[in-house]
Amino acid sequence: MYGPVLRGERVTLRPPDDTDPARFVAWFADPEVTRYLGVLFPPPLEIEQEWFKSIGESKTDVFWMIEVARRAIGSCAIARIDWLHARGSTGIAIGDKTAWRKGYATEAMRLRTEYAFLQLNLHKLSTRTFMENEGARRALQKAGYREIGVAREEMWRDGRWHDQWRAEILRADWPRRDSADPLRTDGC
Ligand SMILES: CC(C)(COP(=O)(O)OP(=O)(O)OC[C@H]1O[C@@H](n2cnc3c(N)ncnc32)[C@H](O)[C@@H]1OP(=O)(O)O)[C@@H](O)C(=O)NCCC(=O)NCCS
Repeated sequence: MYGPVLRGERVTLRPPDDTDPARFVAWFADPEVTRYLGVLFPPPLEIEQEWFKSIGESKTDVFWMIEVARRAIGSCAIARIDWLHARGSTGIAIGDKTAWRKGYATEAMRLRTEYAFLQLNLHKLSTRTFMENEGARRALQKAGYREIGVAREEMWRDGRWHDQWRAEILRADWPRRDSADPLRTDGC
């Protein structure tokens, strides 16, 4: 599934369009972007287009493009949703490096969490990343995720094993905004 348009202060999450797969071809060719994503080989355009089609058809994933000032800078998702146990895994990539360290990932995560809890009625979101991915860890913590543990030597990259940092946000942990919440649907 593609997620609906969610507007924050500076960041907008929106469903992808036909121009978006090509952006990932460029972003995923850059090892600085893919370093912590586990993408070893840049995907060709046709594979990206197929991937976008399959994620749009999925009943257990919700995918958004992240936009700032009408420019696509990356994407985020809630993946592998278990509707019975009301939980999912989250991921994010800001592919446009000029948009790094401006608070956009943190804001995108907050919008995604709000949607997950208020609209999808999920109970918990989980995530994991390389321990060294300080930017992701910080953004996740600022958005309300809590560390739940570290899996030792879980991932291989650059000729050595790396620890994996794991975190989650429960609805009870969630720093809900006040009643001015623009995402709430209180009726017609
Ligand atoms: C990791 C990533 C999502 C961070 O996005 P971002 O928009 O730069 O993050 P934010 O600007 O919201 O930053 C949140 C905090 O982390 C800090 N931060 C961001 N990147 C950092 C880095 N490389 N090193 C140290 N701190 C960093 C920011 O300064 C900010 O802290 P502050 O508010 O105290 O100043 C982005 O760099 C990215 O997509 N990288 C490539 C793919 C990736 O690693 N995805 C995550 C996989 S789980």
